[in-house]
Amino acid sequence: MPAGFQQLGGETVTGTLALSVFTATLGSLEFGYNIGVINAPQKIIEEDYNATWIHRYGEPIPAGTLTSLWSLSVAIFSIGGMFSSSCVGFVSEWLGRRKAMLINNLFAFIGGSLMGMSKLCRSFEMLILGRFVIGAYCGLASGLTPMYVGEIAPTSLRGALGTLHQLAIVTGILIAQILGLNSLLGSEELWPVLLGLTVVPTVFQMALLPFCPESPRFLYIIRCKEHHAKSGLRRLTGKLEVGDMLAEMKEEKRRMDMERKVSIPELFRSQLYRQPTIISILLQLSQQLSGINAIFYYSTSIFMKAGVQSPVYATIGAGVVNCAFTVVSLFLVERMGRRTLHMIGLGGMCICAIIMTTALALLDSVPSMSYVSMLSIFGFVAFFEVGPGPIPWFFVAELFSQGPRPAAMAVAGCSNWTANFIVGMCFQYVADLCGPYVFLIFAALLLFFLIFTFFRVPETRGKTFDQIAANFHQHAIAGMMDMDMDMDMDKQSTELDYLGEES
Ligand code: GLC
Repeated sequence: MPAGFQQLGGETVTGTLALSVFTATLGSLEFGYNIGVINAPQKIIEEDYNATWIHRYGEPIPAGTLTSLWSLSVAIFSIGGMFSSSCVGFVSEWLGRRKAMLINNLFAFIGGSLMGMSKLCRSFEMLILGRFVIGAYCGLASGLTPMYVGEIAPTSLRGALGTLHQLAIVTGILIAQILGLNSLLGSEELWPVLLGLTVVPTVFQMALLPFCPESPRFLYIIRCKEHHAKSGLRRLTGKLEVGDMLAEMKEEKRRMDMERKVSIPELFRSQLYRQPTIISILLQLSQQLSGINAIFYYSTSIFMKAGVQSPVYATIGAGVVNCAFTVVSLFLVERMGRRTLHMIGLGGMCICAIIMTTALALLDSVPSMSYVSMLSIFGFVAFFEVGPGPIPWFFVAELFSQGPRPAAMAVAGCSNWTANFIVGMCFQYVADLCGPYVFLIFAALLLFFLIFTFFRVPETRGKTFDQIAANFHQHAIAGMMDMDMDMDMDKQSTELDYLGEES
């Protein structure tokens, strides 16, 4: 076997495949970094907002204004993500997957520079604008990375490689949590460096992308460039003979040529796509409405309320658990399947949420409950990463064939970011209202998503895109035939009723 090739799950991982996946997931690393980076230095940055206010208006910032400015600084990130993720379909078709990732880096540069320079320019507006722009970068990356990785991965490794997107996100979160410690970059002078550091993965991604091949599926199925697709496949697989793979793509292209171009409204209108679209949206909602970002945005204050002694270190502990269990999922996903892992994750999170609520409710009378609540938060995070964290990201790309995939990724991504925004904005208010019982809301939602997954979500492990799509086509046709039969039966029974009345 040539140097630079590795066997994994019976499949050959070439140097080019490894490099391409690594390069694409640098975008995910940056996404995670920007989720985690704003948590620890909150107080210090707020002090700077205050200093700017005094400099401008000669008086300290009113408390309400400060809270609003801070909430805006946190939440505007998801608004940027909401906007840009809904453009994933259009951008990835127009520029291609690789060029879209390359150009997206412009957003990272602009966003990182705005945030990094905001202290120097005494402008919190720059920081807020920078968060919006970097959110826009992350929104595009959250669609482009899983799409590209899903398209270049061999069928038997699609789940494992797809999980790497989430692994890079959680690594980014952990790096940001550690660098955000007061003794490292989370200090009064260095926080702009902490926020500006987001441009580092960007530089690497821009340097490496030219060495990665464009997605052969995109080249062949969308751009009809068979020759380029073939050479990309050869580089990615290390095989000279790529006839099987090309034949599979040909079949997908043949089907796609028979369909009309799929727009976002079409996804909902067409009987063929409605089912996988609903599944995609609900999977994304199950990820965000599980309450995971309530932990990642507000963990420090949650741990403080739970009576944990060093909340900052407990937050880092949650980050470590987060990473460790994503690795567990990476190894399980091709063995146990997506559906099973997703259900285990949702069920486990639901149980942990209930234990956490009980522990928080008993905290005043039983002080040792602080350990139980901390462990249940760790458990909550661990179960999240077993299924609901990684799986929805790549599952959407699996559920659709090449034609509707970009539109579907856009809808799914936008649902994810919208739900992320809602949790980020509302959690603190709802937590103030419900006290220790706030996580029961998430427990109820988790139960609902578990039941939905059990009844509606199919297993996609080991199936080609074409087989998965064909499965939905069969169901849709069966559904349409059922409807026809129902209509016939209705018609017959109405005719019989009518005849009965006549006689
Ligand atoms: C997923 C979610 C993201 C969350 C992260 C936590 O990637 O999309 O919102 O913060 O997991 O690990």
